[in-house]
Amino acid sequence: MKTESVLFVCLGNICRSPAAEAIFKKIIDKKGISDRFLVDSAGTGSWHVGKKADVRMRMAADKRNINIISKARQINTDDFEKFNYILAMDDSNFQNIVDFKLRKSLSNFASIKKIQEFRSLYSEQEVPDPYFGGNEGFDYVLNILEDSVSGFLDSIT
Ligand code: 4NP
Repeated sequence: MKTESVLFVCLGNICRSPAAEAIFKKIIDKKGISDRFLVDSAGTGSWHVGKKADVRMRMAADKRNINIISKARQINTDDFEKFNYILAMDDSNFQNIVDFKLRKSLSNFASIKKIQEFRSLYSEQEVPDPYFGGNEGFDYVLNILEDSVSGFLDSIT
């Protein structure tokens, strides 16, 4: 039975949140606790809906045996019912999620947080958007997500 449900959210759902989703899935798989979790990712924007994750992020993740297979989708009202935790990558995503919830008058139980709240090794308060930068930005995003995503899992298990 699924007892926890986690939705990772960024802007486009092609770089940061699909990576966070894949990292989380890899960790819970390794721990043998995957059956307890529903895990997904979404974007606040709709530009990339239906697309695979950015090839630069998939390649950077492949090097760490992290398999990103999700297709981009936009966050929707059902997500606020379906997920216990909605985890934003940066302040702007966080604000957009909160605004969406208010705009749609959703009274839900989902806990909306920023993933960097759970960091321990990196001081970054936000997961930086790697989309317009070089390849090293994708590696850096994976470094900080491996830290904060595992910190999040520790906080709920
Ligand atoms: P993500 O990165 O929010 O981590 O998926 C971005 C992807 C696309 C764009 C911006 C950020 N864009 O402007 O198209």
